[in-house]
Amino acid sequence: MLKGIVFALTAWIGSAIAAGGPGIPLEHIDVDPRDKPSLQRGLATFMQYCAGCHSTEYQRFERTATDLEIPVKLFEEYLLPADKKIGDLGTIAMPADEAAEWFGAPPPDLTLSTRKRGNDWVYTYLKTFYTDPSRPLGVNNLVFEKVGMPHVLQPLQGEQRLVCTNAPVRENGVVQTDPLTGNPILADQCGVLEVVEGTGQLTADEYDRVIYDLVNYMAYIAEPSRVDAERIGTYVLLFLFVFGIIAYLLKREYWRDVH
Ligand code: HEC
Repeated sequence: MLKGIVFALTAWIGSAIAAGGPGIPLEHIDVDPRDKPSLQRGLATFMQYCAGCHSTEYQRFERTATDLEIPVKLFEEYLLPADKKIGDLGTIAMPADEAAEWFGAPPPDLTLSTRKRGNDWVYTYLKTFYTDPSRPLGVNNLVFEKVGMPHVLQPLQGEQRLVCTNAPVRENGVVQTDPLTGNPILADQCGVLEVVEGTGQLTADEYDRVIYDLVNYMAYIAEPSRVDAERIGTYVLLFLFVFGIIAYLLKREYWRDVH
């Protein structure tokens, strides 16, 4: 029993340390598990760019198809990997030990990654890859130093570099503006991310949207029942409220003769 508690505590402290202390403030997003079109786009991006290396082995494709209202036939035709059936879990064929040799670390399962790291971390992570010739794959990441993952979305985002430039001052990720003019405050800074013009297929806003949808989808697979849980939660609160009134009236009725 005591051993269990000590183990749980060390695991918790360990993960708090591992998750804490990113080099830069994280960009905040509000995910929306009810936004089905966003989740569908996120799923498509995930299957195209991520599922080759990362499994999602705690989620069945069928559950995703049902929740995201994608007809099974379309899912099988456009999204399902060739070696999979609709009822399968999102396991992958890549052997973990060889992958570890290729990338320095095996690509972890991503079913619960937004629960482990937080939505904001994953969102910021996918936006802050930058060119670093000292790394084996030529890229590094601002929130995951010495990352083993290649920047697989580089064709969309373009090549991002860390530069010294006259850029808007940010505090906690928010651009600071001059209170009088409303213009962004500029200052010479180093370590600013800049996409090399003409290297990406998408504009910065379009890329942000792709990453938002992707993280929205990843947050959904981490907690597929969230929409149901919220709906049921509302009914439970409603029931408690109504029952509370009835209980109060009953109490008054029972105690009427005593007082
Ligand atoms: C070529 C293989 C490959 C592809 C494709 C790939 N990744 Fe990775 N990913 C990795 C490896 C390897 C790691 C482990 C990096 C490390 O530990 O240094 C990783 C780590 C991660 C992590 C950090 C997990 C954690 O908590 O430590 C996230 C999040 C992630 N990948 C998301 C994605 C997403 C989203 C996509 C699709 C856009 C993707 N990856 C595509 C190889 C890949």
